[in-house]
Amino acid sequence: MTKRTHEEVLKNPVFSTISDAAKELSLDSYVIGGFVRDYLLQRGTPKDIDIVAIGSGIELAKLVAKKLPGSSEVSVFKNFGTAMIKFQDIEIEFVGARKESYHRDSRKPVVENGSLEDDQKRRDFTINALAISLNSKDYGQLLDPFDGIGDLKRQLIRTPLDPDITYSDDPLRMMRAIRFATQLNFIIHPESLQAIADNKERIKIISNERIVDELHKILASAKPSLGFSLLHDTGLLPFIMPELVALEGIEEIEGQRHKDNFWHTLEVVDNISQNTDNVWLRWAALLHDIGKAPTKKFDNKIGWTFHGHEFIGSKMVYKLFKRLRLPLNEKMKFVQKMVLMSSRPIVLSEDFVTDSAVRRLIFDAGEHVEDLMTLCEADITTKNPKKQKRYRNNFKIVRQKIEEVEERDHIRNFQPPISGEEIMKTFNLKPSKEIGMIKEAIKEAILEGEIPNEYNAAYTLMLRKGKEMGLGGN
Ligand code: CTP
Repeated sequence: MTKRTHEEVLKNPVFSTISDAAKELSLDSYVIGGFVRDYLLQRGTPKDIDIVAIGSGIELAKLVAKKLPGSSEVSVFKNFGTAMIKFQDIEIEFVGARKESYHRDSRKPVVENGSLEDDQKRRDFTINALAISLNSKDYGQLLDPFDGIGDLKRQLIRTPLDPDITYSDDPLRMMRAIRFATQLNFIIHPESLQAIADNKERIKIISNERIVDELHKILASAKPSLGFSLLHDTGLLPFIMPELVALEGIEEIEGQRHKDNFWHTLEVVDNISQNTDNVWLRWAALLHDIGKAPTKKFDNKIGWTFHGHEFIGSKMVYKLFKRLRLPLNEKMKFVQKMVLMSSRPIVLSEDFVTDSAVRRLIFDAGEHVEDLMTLCEADITTKNPKKQKRYRNNFKIVRQKIEEVEERDHIRNFQPPISGEEIMKTFNLKPSKEIGMIKEAIKEAILEGEIPNEYNAAYTLMLRKGKEMGLGGN
């Protein structure tokens, strides 16, 4: 055990207060878990602090709240033997050391109290079992019975106990292992990896909300493909997102092959992650091709086709979000829209780029046109340098055109220059389909570039259309 003390990380007054309160209650206390791990890894400022008490965590929390000016009321979770207070945006969670597995969302009530080491060995990973003492006799000393420090150095995810026990205590830990490996760029110990593969079916007992939490964190990492390939290799992915697994494989008929859309997708997700932190755009990248499995066909004349995969894919987004209990709100609609439109810029860039095609793209994508371009650029994974160059050049042209056209025509947040009310007034109409027809004609003329997006030009067109339709007027 190292003799070096870690008092420098205990600057925040909460720690001396906890230490004093614990002394008053004659119990020992330690800071443990993610706070210690992230401090040792120098990983930014922590949001949460986990405290373990050798005794009642709830009593300790109550006394700390009394002694610490500016702290919140105590929230007590009696069944789980935990309590939480908030102080300066930090959540401090208190738990009594226990003999059995610790995890925050456990449905199992806590029964038996234990020593610090009992508690440490029932935690998920050696790097999460590191504790720093808050007791006056050895304040700031690191307690590391499972060589978590060594694993931090070796960049290794390893369980304190036999991994079969640790993972069956809480199967979510299989996802957590993969998530930490992805976030920290660590390796999962081979025995642990094997245990995950052996226990994969147990993921079924974990709620989708908790699974999605981990998926979000994987997707928010610098290189999400690390996590998704681990989910794939361990066999967890079919239980979580079978739609993605269905994209795997290359078929060949009459010498014609299509690309492996699963591994392509992971490349797209990594590409986009270099250009955006928007996790919903990363979701869109992950799901942009899911419609390809159900739409795949072989045509003797043209080879492999995936007709309408964008439309089918956007419908699948809804089902997948619903199943995984992701939000069915504007975030989902955004992902659907990205999937639906995911081929538009690339199709555009393959051809001669006309102003009207660009205007239509801006009109349909609206405020998300930049995001759509980011997605489509990430979608270029061809290894053929000539093609790669051509696509990138064409994209540059499309981007330039978007800017030019937008500056001139203001299509992005298109508001019809003539309102329905004005059409009704001009032609003395009650609400009717003619109004919609005139509005549509004006919009079409603007998108086609026949008239500018301006009131006067639109007004003239409205009069002409009205006349053609035999409408009278004031
Ligand atoms: N823990 C565990 N098993 C779980 C969840 C948590 O053993 N299934 C323990 C670990 O010791 C972990 C601590 O509880 O460090 C706190 O859990 P949590 O706040 O979920 O994770 P952190 O490690 O703090 O990391 P992060 O904030 O990145 O999720």
